[in-house]
Amino acid sequence: MTNAKPTGDDLVTGSARCATPGETQALGAWFAARVPADAVLSLEGPLGAGKTQFVKGFVAARGHAGGVSSPTFTLVHEYGAVAHFDWYRLEAPGDVAALGWDDYLDGGGTLLVEWGDRFPEQLPAGAWRLRFAVDGEAREIAWGRVP
Ligand SMILES: Nc1ncnc2c1ncn2[C@@H]1O[C@H](COP(=O)(O)OP(=O)(O)OP(=O)(O)O)[C@@H](O)[C@H]1O
Ligand SMILES: [Mg+2]
Repeated sequence: MTNAKPTGDDLVTGSARCATPGETQALGAWFAARVPADAVLSLEGPLGAGKTQFVKGFVAARGHAGGVSSPTFTLVHEYGAVAHFDWYRLEAPGDVAALGWDDYLDGGGTLLVEWGDRFPEQLPAGAWRLRFAVDGEAREIAWGRVP
């Protein structure tokens, strides 16, 4: 971890200030080392907030070599046991189902969802919701879990 140290109780709720893209990646790595294999993380915040940077760090920490790109057109990318979704362009909850969401939930892999707040009702109990806010060059990231 860099100096973007999470504060808060633990993984349940917390926040971090990430001054650089590398620190946002380091926060992703921090989560990767702590959440269970079947975790669901919803990454929420405006365009350019750093959600994909977080995914890069998470995926690298899970041992997947190579780059991460936004699943803008393909809608889901798989990196080993980590699946990376982007719901920005989906229009209805049925679009989430059409991507095989239920099968992914049953599959036991780690699911990272950019723009998960587009369809919050699709997020299972226990999912982490991380809110990314932009403050100049820094990113304020706060999280909690779906009851
Ligand atoms: N502290 C920081 N943390 C993360 N990214 C930062 C930071 N400072 C600057 N950036 C820049 O902000 C951009 C974040 O882009 P990224 O693709 O991660 O955003 P995103 O939230 O995934 O956006 P989108 O909703 O379009 O997918 C990158 O160009 C990155 O270099
Ligand atoms: Mg992105």
